[in-house]
Amino acid sequence: MGGKSARSVPAPPEDRDEALRKLLAEGVVWGDSAQWLPRLPEESVDLFFTSPPYADARSYMKISPDHYVEWFLPFAEDMFSATKDTGSFVLNIKNRVAKSGQLRGQRHPYVYELVLALQRMGWRWVEAYIWSKPNAICGRFGPRTKDSFEYVYHFSKGSKPYFNLDAVRVPYKADSAEIMRRGRDVNGRRNTEAGFGRDRTKTYEHGGADPGNVISVGQTYNQHAGPAGQHTAVMPEGLAEFFVKAVCSPGGIVVDPFAGSGTTVISALRHGRQAGGIELHGEYAEIARKRISSQSSSSEPTLGEELVRWAG
Ligand SMILES: C[S@@+](CC[C@H](N)C(=O)[O-])C[C@H]1O[C@@H](n2cnc3c(N)ncnc32)[C@H](O)[C@@H]1O
Repeated sequence: MGGKSARSVPAPPEDRDEALRKLLAEGVVWGDSAQWLPRLPEESVDLFFTSPPYADARSYMKISPDHYVEWFLPFAEDMFSATKDTGSFVLNIKNRVAKSGQLRGQRHPYVYELVLALQRMGWRWVEAYIWSKPNAICGRFGPRTKDSFEYVYHFSKGSKPYFNLDAVRVPYKADSAEIMRRGRDVNGRRNTEAGFGRDRTKTYEHGGADPGNVISVGQTYNQHAGPAGQHTAVMPEGLAEFFVKAVCSPGGIVVDPFAGSGTTVISALRHGRQAGGIELHGEYAEIARKRISSQSSSSEPTLGEELVRWAG
């Protein structure tokens, strides 16, 4: 895509309620989150879910890992104000190998520095998830294996964030005959020598097994049919879907401040949430809006629903 100019980006409406209305109505606005986030009403958003540009990563935007934290923190402060007390911020981010400076050739600690800085700012660090990519692309740098995971950090604003485990349970591996048998087991509790055990007669009363915090979703590597294929960093819908379902109540508001081709917004709309994204490059915002109008009304299972397998 030529001319991804971020110059003369349209400003958000002055009125905060009007800004939120416009964001949700347009799906993805062409705008700068540095301008939009402070214009969102305080305590209005249930979930900020985003995958920002990683350090040193894309041709459209290179942020040095040495300056990443200072670049990111102002966005995080504005998101904090706009988040409800029960709301969350979920951040997908990836380690880099330093290309220059004293750490050249080593893993750069910018991800960990950012997590600590966010926690110091007041975001409560709830969990670190691993997004495992079973089909990670080949290629490695130095004495390493290929990169086959990314982090997803869950932060909450208050001490009692919305979290619905039932929404992301996974099918039991045992078949129905085994489930019935264990339910009738008169000696259901099995203790190990260490004294641990669980009552296997009650294991199957939840409608699905507990998912683990390793989430396995195939990467899509720009193979998206249609307009999303023109964005170089599209995430799979299954990743957004897990957090939309678990961390935002039905009908709640999801915002992606680095919206790219609109994956978060599509996933949130598909699952009955209100959603809006902010994208700095007008061409990407246009792609996102096309994707939203062609996909969000579809009743087909999402790519994510087909691909996603939670490693429990
Ligand atoms: C990693 S991509 C997001 C991809 C997205 N998750 C998807 O599936 O398409 C990050 C996006 O953030 C956008 N961006 C960077 N700085 C921004 C800012 N200040 N305001 C809004 N968007 C920004 C970039 O243009 C880029 O499209």
